[in-house]
Amino acid sequence: MKQNIKSQASAQNTAFSAGSRPQQRRALEIMGWIVLSLLIITGLSSVIGRASFLNHAIAIAPVDPILEFGAFDSRYYTNLAATVLHLLPGLLIFIMGPIQFMPNLRKRYLKWHRISGRVYVASGFTGAVSGFVIGTIDPFMGFTGQGFNEAMATAFLSAYVFFCLTMAIYHIRNKRIGPHREWMIRGFALMTAIATERLLLIAFQATLDVDIGILFGTTFWMAAILNLAVAESWINLTRTPGNGAAHWKDLDRRAKSA
Ligand code: HEM
Repeated sequence: MKQNIKSQASAQNTAFSAGSRPQQRRALEIMGWIVLSLLIITGLSSVIGRASFLNHAIAIAPVDPILEFGAFDSRYYTNLAATVLHLLPGLLIFIMGPIQFMPNLRKRYLKWHRISGRVYVASGFTGAVSGFVIGTIDPFMGFTGQGFNEAMATAFLSAYVFFCLTMAIYHIRNKRIGPHREWMIRGFALMTAIATERLLLIAFQATLDVDIGILFGTTFWMAAILNLAVAESWINLTRTPGNGAAHWKDLDRRAKSA
């Protein structure tokens, strides 16, 4: 009987599409949370920084925003509604996102996961549309100039965030937990690319003598690809069989105790 359970557990374990790699999953999970914390801190501090700029800009209400704040910052003031509709959802996404991905909290408070999931998805859609308005319609350095690179990167990022969230909703409505989880990971990875971009920008500005107009759009692409590549690797390593209802942690735990 014990032998039977053991072989069943091992069969379940090898059903991971990436094979049985419990230690790798565990180590990467820890590393992932450390990197994610850095990205969350980066994202939240830029939201706070931009919100306090906005507060100051509204208080002084300059006649010539470009003269007062410069070509880059003034866009946040001239696109006020889009900026507010970007910062608020961005804040919610960065606070709620990590909580949504914690399996223990999800299992214990499933009702809360569903409610906050709706707020998270609505924030994602709003953030993508407002990001599109700022970055694609009014990019830094102009749509027909160097800003075209940023405009296209933003259009791609917005569209793909939309697609990921739509796919995540579609799958969970059909009770396919695994694909729902995968599309949510992709969407979150893309939205946190905004923080990866900040870090890349800081690193390049400190080490290279490249114009900010070129760096801005390029780092957008780099961050999106980097985050998506990491997300796809993680998804592949943790994909469980069937409809994905069993979490990779449960399968690894079961295989270990068998
Ligand atoms: C949903 C997908 C998103 C897209 C497509 C997007 C796109 C953009 C774009 C194009 C800009 C303007 C960059 C410029 O100045 O030209 C921007 C700014 C900003 N975004 Fe997002 N964004 C998204 C999600 C987020 C999230 C989740 C956060 C949360 C932290 C966030 C935080 C910010 C902040 C703080 C700024 C202001 C940057 C600054 O102060 O320089 N964005 N975003």
